[in-house]
Amino acid sequence: MINYFFKTYGCQANVADSQGLARFLDELGCKEVQTEADADLAIVNTCAVRDKAEQKLFSYLGELAEHKKSRQYMKIGVIGCVASYKKKEIYQRFDLVNFVYGAREEYDSLKAYLMDSVVNLETTKQMYMTNPDANVKSGGQDRDVKKVVQFKKLLSTPRFVSLGLNRLRQDGVYPESSPRDGQEKAEKKVIDKPGAQKPQELNRSYVNIMTGCNKACAYCIVPFTRGGEVSYPMAQILDRVAHDIANGAKEITLIGQNVNSYIDPETGYKFPELMRRVAAIDGQFWVRWISPHPQDMTRELFEVIAQYRDKLPGYVHFPVQSGSDRILTLMKRNYTAAQYLEQIGWIHELLPDATISTDIIVGFPGETEEDYLATRELMEKVKYDLVYSFIYSPRKYTGAANMEDTSSYQDKQKWLEALQDRQKEICFERNLRNIGKTFTCLVEKRVAHDKLLARTEGNVRVHFQGPDEMIGTFVKVRIEETGPVNMIGVLV
Ligand code: SAH
Ligand code: SF4
Ligand code: F3S
Repeated sequence: MINYFFKTYGCQANVADSQGLARFLDELGCKEVQTEADADLAIVNTCAVRDKAEQKLFSYLGELAEHKKSRQYMKIGVIGCVASYKKKEIYQRFDLVNFVYGAREEYDSLKAYLMDSVVNLETTKQMYMTNPDANVKSGGQDRDVKKVVQFKKLLSTPRFVSLGLNRLRQDGVYPESSPRDGQEKAEKKVIDKPGAQKPQELNRSYVNIMTGCNKACAYCIVPFTRGGEVSYPMAQILDRVAHDIANGAKEITLIGQNVNSYIDPETGYKFPELMRRVAAIDGQFWVRWISPHPQDMTRELFEVIAQYRDKLPGYVHFPVQSGSDRILTLMKRNYTAAQYLEQIGWIHELLPDATISTDIIVGFPGETEEDYLATRELMEKVKYDLVYSFIYSPRKYTGAANMEDTSSYQDKQKWLEALQDRQKEICFERNLRNIGKTFTCLVEKRVAHDKLLARTEGNVRVHFQGPDEMIGTFVKVRIEETGPVNMIGVLV
């Protein structure tokens, strides 16, 4: 049996892609393992959004090299957003990498290739097991995955057909997902002792509803790594969601680089209609959606959420990036701070208790102290529940790559720190106001021997004491004390 290991960096689109491929490998009879040391096949799913994310890949490949030294039959693959635009470099710098496959390429060929690899690996692994000193090798670099697999021939093999894999994604993309475990590394460490059983976790389903991006924000590499927008048929998405709910999923995350720009290629229905139909599926579950763009945040969407609050939580991630109109224009974001605030007003009006989070970039080329302060002012107006904030990272191929920078990295760091410190205070104040209130929470996992982690519908973290049986269920918790990040409560 072939053991595979996934290392997944980046956003939830990558998580969904890894899960889709993991499910495919499971269907081929392979087994997922929790450490590289146990893997015959290791796949790294990569992110290119900021330089730091990209560098993680390169240092991780160094780590993998150590594993491959002792087991040379091991196969290593790099997929995802860095693979989309640095294929040549990865092949050149890392002999040990057997295949590189970008996020905008069709997954059908990759699947056919994996199927082929698994068959080959079964042989090489057996040879290795019989004589570990013989240095059985994995067979070099497959620089053209599509050629290797003779894809068409494979498609018609009985094994492929019997697995139902000829029902491939339309346009090379079928919304993949399966209710497997999500993961948060820091917390995982607490329970993932060597030899310990895999912790029980909330059954989550990540469903790609669209991929790619037709916008051209000046800082962003995603349109290059993922290509243009493609939405998947609504009927398939609804099938997938219903299937995962029937299999115990309690949290469904609809995923797309511009999730709310979704448009059904078959009927033309848009995102609010999809949400309406997902919410109409029987069962008790929450639907999350990531990542939206302000341009498609309509009143209708918030009306639908208001109408189906049992399934559609009052939580809106609403990336603003900057509070300065001058910078928003340079970023090519297609809205002003005032327009954005008007939309925030719709949330307050239609979903009065909803929580709101955002993404902010500091230090975009040409950003001055005044621009930065405009962002801080906007933060004070909205009082976000959560802010994901980043220092601008220049990315090749993007519009801003060659724009002139006027502030120093030290300044940017100072801005970021001050912004994050203030946000911590805002979160703490919000949490303090929650003391004494009771929230319906969905329980995710055990994070310490006496502590379960749950989240409110507004995505705020709650710790409380309870038995393992509560993992994956909805419970009511009254908040008794709080820190800036976690609230602490008791079951009611
Ligand atoms: N489609 C989403 C965002 C996807 S990328 C949207 O339009 O908002 C996730 C976040 O990474 C972005 O919101 C942005 O805040 C950040 N980001 C993207 N490119 C970046 C860069 N070059 N430097 C720093 N942060 C970046
Ligand atoms: Fe990137 Fe902008 Fe597209 Fe979001 S909308 S993925 S930030 S280009
Ligand atoms: Fe990263 Fe690609 Fe997602 S660049 S953020 S993994 S779309």
